[in-house]
Amino acid sequence: MSPRPLIRIEGLARRFPEPSGKSTLTVFEDVWFTVDPGEFVCIIGHSGCGKSTILNILAGLDSPSEGTVIVGEQAIDGPSLDRAVIFQSHALMPWLSASRNIELGISSRHRNWSSEQVRAHAQKYLSLVHLDGAENKKPAQLSGGMRQRVGIARALAVEPKILLMDEPFSALDALTRGALQDEVLAIRRATEQTIFMITHDIDEAMLLADRIVLMTNGPKARIAEIVENTLPKDRQRTDLHKYPNYYPLRNHLLEFLVTRSKELAGGVGAGDPRAPVIIRPVASASTAAETAIGTSTQSSAPYRSRPAPTRVIAHANGSAVAPASDVALKRISRTT
Ligand SMILES: Nc1ncnc2c1ncn2[C@@H]1O[C@H](COP(=O)(O)OP(=O)(O)OP(=O)(O)O)[C@@H](O)[C@H]1O
Ligand SMILES: [Mg+2]
Repeated sequence: MSPRPLIRIEGLARRFPEPSGKSTLTVFEDVWFTVDPGEFVCIIGHSGCGKSTILNILAGLDSPSEGTVIVGEQAIDGPSLDRAVIFQSHALMPWLSASRNIELGISSRHRNWSSEQVRAHAQKYLSLVHLDGAENKKPAQLSGGMRQRVGIARALAVEPKILLMDEPFSALDALTRGALQDEVLAIRRATEQTIFMITHDIDEAMLLADRIVLMTNGPKARIAEIVENTLPKDRQRTDLHKYPNYYPLRNHLLEFLVTRSKELAGGVGAGDPRAPVIIRPVASASTAAETAIGTSTQSSAPYRSRPAPTRVIAHANGSAVAPASDVALKRISRTT
């Protein structure tokens, strides 16, 4: 039985008045999905579809025009230390040391702690992100990657229920980004932290996420489908491409971004928004795994990057196989 979701996003819409004041821009509407406790969920979609707006609403920094976000049993109402945010830029206080930046949040969380307790707690999280020795340095004395590490330590140190990350590594060079992805993966495996993250990087999503939420283009963006990560749980960045499900998964995501996110814009061919379709891209040798979750096995097509026969595995609400109907749903498989 799947656990009770920690986050429930129900019927979310965000509309802004157009500059003329005569009409309204609907950035997204009818957005429904859930995040389980301990789950790592990434959201992918083209620029402007509303990913940051959704994350800001989750953080309590913005309010939806319609719909609700429920965390645990409660609809959220403003920011909370239970939902820590890491933005693309580190947003550290430039006049405070790395340690003091982290201590600020800890002191708000634990108002009765002594300054020694607060400092020791900050040090623990600085060590977790491999910044021992940098505690007294100001942000300007740190590299971009180190600053982002302080941001991660600051967010984790308040021990939030949920970590929200908006393209946290996109401003970093490839090597630093890779190193930080590895660190987040290790921290997440050690802490079972629930994480919701925005990324434009398919490989990053494939490395980190348990599930990948795909949004159609805006305006009126929606959740097109939710893709389960079919790579092994103990995956490593350097080995990703060696797993049999790597290409089916990667090509499915790529094809969505290149073609279907556009085709499905404005709700074209949309199914029930309350139950986004769940897709499990797998290599044909793994059809046993697909069958195990209740689908009829179709004959496998040769590996391809173009659309292949439709396969719907299950609905987000847990019901069984969906009808194989529209252009939204495609299966990519390969013979081995
Ligand atoms: N306060 C605001 N007033 C008016 N329009 C806004 C406001 N905030 C966001 N928008 C609009 O909402 C849309 C979605 O913005 P958002 O930043 O959420 O997109 P995004 O998916 O995160 O894009 P990117 O991938 O480029 O970061 C954009 O068209 C943006 O102009
Ligand atoms: Mg954004």
